[in-house]
Amino acid sequence: MSPVRSAFVAGNWKMNGALAGNVALLEKLRAGLPEREALEVAVFPPFPYLDQIARLLSGSTIGLGAQDVSRHAVGAYTGEVSAGMLREFGCRYALAGHSERRRFHLESDQLVAEKFGAAQAVGMTPILCLGETLEERQADATLDVVFRQLDAALALHGVAAFAHAVLAYEPVWAIGTGLSASPEAAQAVHRALRQRVAKDDLAVAADLRIVYGGSVKADNAAALFAQPDIDGTLVGGAALDADAFLAICRAVNG
Ligand code: 13P
Repeated sequence: MSPVRSAFVAGNWKMNGALAGNVALLEKLRAGLPEREALEVAVFPPFPYLDQIARLLSGSTIGLGAQDVSRHAVGAYTGEVSAGMLREFGCRYALAGHSERRRFHLESDQLVAEKFGAAQAVGMTPILCLGETLEERQADATLDVVFRQLDAALALHGVAAFAHAVLAYEPVWAIGTGLSASPEAAQAVHRALRQRVAKDDLAVAADLRIVYGGSVKADNAAALFAQPDIDGTLVGGAALDADAFLAICRAVNG
């Protein structure tokens, strides 16, 4: 973690949640959130709960984010949710290109780049998710894959767009498996991503937050955060348990 970038801890609930349980979870999060300098925390519930969670977060520093966003602004796109709608419901952030969207909904790099732009166009911070599969890692293609995913958004929007964005490196083989990347392996990819952005703009690269996701828990968070280019985390499973999520937040700055 670097002293110049504030840490970001984001909880992606995926397709989990229920009205009553959400209340209990948010009460615990609000009560237990550590007072830390430069720590930004956000939750990403499923769309139907955004309004409920926005109300539960009222007056809190915890931010609200969407797990996905349409590339379209309005119109005949059944099932889609636009960035403007998400903004209206209090979302500050939107994930673009989570590996589960890429895998189960066949989202391409180009589509993900367009979603990134749609979120930014309404003032939300897009979180561009990148990561290689196990086969790609075994074929030594990790950097080729994450650069290809990053380059699609860089090509469409230019490096300046990354002054208002977050990168989330989430190796697919580490998601929900209990097999987190080692701090050193994750750091190597984060550093490479930052260097890639630095080729276009040094200042944007220096300020860009790159968070790691994939089986982050209370017991491995501190070692990941100790790496200079790991600026926080995108948490899945542990975000559904208030104690586990709060322990990860507390691991920021020791
Ligand atoms: P897990 O923390 O459950 O591995 O999920 C990571 C993730 O996909 C967050 O977006």
